[in-house]
Amino acid sequence: MSQVATLRPESKKKAAMPRSSKNSVIDVRHLVKVYGGRGQEEVKAPNGAGKTTVIRIITTLLAKTSGSVHVAGLDVERDGLDIRRMIGYTGQSIGVDGELTGRENLWLIGRLYHMPNSLVDERVEELLEVLQLKDAADRRAYTYSGGMRRRLDLGAGLVHHPRVLFLDEPTTGLDPQTRAAVWEYLRRLHREENMTIFLTTQYMEEADQLCQRIAIIDLGKIVAEGSPAELKAAIGADVITVRITRDEAFAQSRDRALEIARTIPGVSRATIFDEGVSAYTADGGATLLEVLRRLDAEKVPVHQVALAHPTLDEVFLQHTGRQMRVEEVKPMSRSFGRRRR
Ligand SMILES: Nc1ncnc2c1ncn2[C@@H]1O[C@H](COP(=O)(O)OP(=O)(O)OP(=O)(O)O)[C@@H](O)[C@H]1O
Ligand SMILES: [Mg+2]
Repeated sequence: MSQVATLRPESKKKAAMPRSSKNSVIDVRHLVKVYGGRGQEEVKAPNGAGKTTVIRIITTLLAKTSGSVHVAGLDVERDGLDIRRMIGYTGQSIGVDGELTGRENLWLIGRLYHMPNSLVDERVEELLEVLQLKDAADRRAYTYSGGMRRRLDLGAGLVHHPRVLFLDEPTTGLDPQTRAAVWEYLRRLHREENMTIFLTTQYMEEADQLCQRIAIIDLGKIVAEGSPAELKAAIGADVITVRITRDEAFAQSRDRALEIARTIPGVSRATIFDEGVSAYTADGGATLLEVLRRLDAEKVPVHQVALAHPTLDEVFLQHTGRQMRVEEVKPMSRSFGRRRR
C-alpha cells in the first residue's frame, strides 16, 4: 500500500484553528533528531543528509528529539491527526500494489480519500497523462518497469490535492521528459490551487526551477538557506571550475591549483572540491585567462575548465565541498511489493 494511505483521509470536519501564532505554513525551529535513543547510541553513518528524516518528522510519521515543528500553526506532537487531515506525503520508496493496474492504484487512493467518483476519474486520467502511463494504465503494476512504478507511486501522492504536499525526491529515477512534465504539474498545483509544496531533491536544477525557498542540508545540518537568487548572489558573480587530471599526483596538483587561484588578482575566493578547484570572481572572462596562464606556467595538469554564472550546483558545491553527481542519485531503496508468480 502506498505511503499516502498511511495518512488519514480528508475529513469533512474542519481542521482545528491554528494554535500557534506562527505565520508560515510550515514552521520548523531548532529541530534535532537523534536516532538510537538519548544520544547514547547515536548513529554516525556517512550517508544521508537527513532529508527523509526531516520530512517524516514534519508529516508526523517520526518523533523528533527536540525543537518545534508546526504545520499551519498546528503542533506535530499535539495535533498530529489534524495535520494528517490536511497533508499528502509521497515517500522515497515504492508503495503501489502490484496486483492492481496503474489506473486502479490511482483510483483506490482517490476512494481512500473519500473523493467523489467523477473527481477521481478526472484526476486519474490527468495523472496518467502527465506521468505518461496512459498506454500501460490497464496493465497490472507488477509488470511495470522501475521508472513506470516510480511514476505511478508519485501519481498516488498527487491524486487528492492536499493543502500541503510533501514529496521526498519526487523525480529521482525519472527520465528528463517526465521530470519536466511533473515540474509543470507541480507548478500548476501551486499556481491554481495555492498548494504549499515541500520537496526534497538531489537535483539542484529541480530546486532552482520549482522552489521559492531552499535549504541545503549537509550531514544533518542546514548549511545554506534562501531563494535561488539569494543563494546564487551570495557566492559571487562568476565561477571558474578547474578539474585536475586524475593521475598519481592529483592531490598535490589540486593543492597547488588552490594556492595559485588564491593569489590571482580578481579571485575573491577559491575552494577545493573532489575533482579540482573552484574560483569565484567578478569578471570571469579576464580572470580565466590568468588562471590558465598560471596553471600552465606551474605545470599543473588540467583536465577541464569551465566558466559559468553560478548555478545552484555551484552553491551546493561551495557549501558542502562536494559536487552533486548523477552517480549520487541512488536507485529505488526498496523492492516493489508484489506476489511472485
Ligand atoms: N531508523 C534509523 N535508525 C538509525 N539511523 C537512521 C535511521 N533512519 C535514518 N538514519 C540515519 O540518519 C541519517 C539521515 O538519513 P535520511 O534518510 O534522513 O537521509 P536522506 O538525506 O534522506 O538520505 P538519501 O539521500 O539517501 O535519501 C543517515 O545517517 C541515516 O543512516
Ligand atoms: Mg531520503
